[in-house]
Amino acid sequence: MTTNLNWWKGGIIYQIYPRSFMDASGDGVGDLAGITSKLDYVASLGVDGIWLSPIFMSPMKDFGYDVSDYRDIDPMFGSLEDFKALVARSHELGLKVMIDQVISHSADVHPWFEESRQDKTNPKADWYVWADPKPDGSPPNNWLSIFGGSAWKWDSRRLQYYLHNFLESQPDFNFHNPEVRQAHLDNMRFWLDLGVDGFRLDTVNFYFHSEGLEDNPPVPAGEPKTMGAPHDNPYTYQRHVYDLSRPENLDFLKDMRAMMDEYPGTTAVGEIGDDFPLKRMAEYTSGGDKLHMAYTFDFLNTPHSPDYIRDVLKNMQEIVGDGWPCWALSNHDVVRSRTRWGAEEDAEAYPLIALALILSLRGSVCLYQGEELGLPEAEVPFERIQDPYGIPLWPVFKGRDGCRTPMVWDDSALGGFSTVEPWLPVDAKHLPLSVAVQEANPDALLHKVRQLIHWRQKQPALVNGELSQCDLGNGQLIGLVREYQGERVLVVINMTNTSQSATLNGTVSVLDGHGFTSTLEGKTLTLPAYQAFYATLS
Ligand code: NOJ
Repeated sequence: MTTNLNWWKGGIIYQIYPRSFMDASGDGVGDLAGITSKLDYVASLGVDGIWLSPIFMSPMKDFGYDVSDYRDIDPMFGSLEDFKALVARSHELGLKVMIDQVISHSADVHPWFEESRQDKTNPKADWYVWADPKPDGSPPNNWLSIFGGSAWKWDSRRLQYYLHNFLESQPDFNFHNPEVRQAHLDNMRFWLDLGVDGFRLDTVNFYFHSEGLEDNPPVPAGEPKTMGAPHDNPYTYQRHVYDLSRPENLDFLKDMRAMMDEYPGTTAVGEIGDDFPLKRMAEYTSGGDKLHMAYTFDFLNTPHSPDYIRDVLKNMQEIVGDGWPCWALSNHDVVRSRTRWGAEEDAEAYPLIALALILSLRGSVCLYQGEELGLPEAEVPFERIQDPYGIPLWPVFKGRDGCRTPMVWDDSALGGFSTVEPWLPVDAKHLPLSVAVQEANPDALLHKVRQLIHWRQKQPALVNGELSQCDLGNGQLIGLVREYQGERVLVVINMTNTSQSATLNGTVSVLDGHGFTSTLEGKTLTLPAYQAFYATLS
């Protein structure tokens, strides 16, 4: 068997949120054994691999994005042995395994922080970002936490402030310290040695801060705001010049890549929330010596008109160049795409055409659990809210629980996820969309998603091809040409709720097998609402 070392390039990665995928232990929280028991289902979708959100030791204040031991599994999820079994079974099924690495900050109960906060002279004193107050006792500068308030927390033991870009219980590491950088690389190597195929790098542009601790300027009127934080959050009022995306990060990413290159076939995808995300993606993923790929919030945002999509693609081409994007419509941080993009649209047809869009772009794709079922955002009553980000901004921003509720495997009251009431409630409106219900209905979305993914995986031009946009003379349609090794595939996507037509010039040979319908009479292509058209161009 030949191994494709570039499996990630154009690959499809299924994102699993372990707390909510499958609970094998019966405590209401998902776990590794539960995931392993559902890997056949994941493989049946035709994806290339999985990305597991954090499974490491954690006080769970940010549900695992606050790590207290980078080399061990939280007992809530199982053990290292369970993890090895998960990796082994994934590999048997031909699935790669990527794990989250949350190295910009740790949990405040991590032994490194416990030590660092003791005094200003201990061996870990400089492992986190500490600073004296201003003469009036206030924080060192105006930097803000994404989760609200100042990014500085006073520590009454050390009599200094420490930096936290997220929760107070998530202190930021000082990446200017070479020991910190090395410790993280060593921990990553630990997982590579265990056989993982790659990493999703949390907040990859947050690693370094400016040691001058200068105030960030405000965003000038009319200029774009930071992507990745809701706009009712004052964090978006600042231009994040000094707290993010510092140039020193590029050298660290090169060191990381050099280490990963010792493990052929592994990959890293970075999460970029930034004032100028595509510029950052270009910096981080071009040249083949830093990240393999990165994702931004361009499609995790709310706008989604054909004009907006065309603009994102145009900017991607102009700015990202030879860099490599990873597209996602949903993840564990944003409102589910069917609700965010498709609220007013056909609940069955819209999720499929939106997926067809990202499967037709140059780049890799992350598919978040439950998106293949077309799950809408779940309603979580205020008294069941878990997300610390959601509580202070409620009800304007309800936090991230609505996309994190349990996966629905069948239509029993708890969705077949657990035998006890889960940590987040199952939304009754998800039950008719469960895996079992859809498996039994040949017309259900799940079968169409499977068909589309399996078909797309066999189209080299869609997996690997370069992309250009083509003007079809109808602004409602998105026209793309993907080109690979001399083959040119025309893609036309109608994401609107009405039939659309266009005139095709040139000779085309229609591709089918993807499940969409359209008619081509002479040169006139007609696409019913929410349909796509694929053809080779000669
Ligand atoms: C991004 C993660 O996706 C999110 O869930 C988390 O809260 C923050 N980073 C902080 O780690």
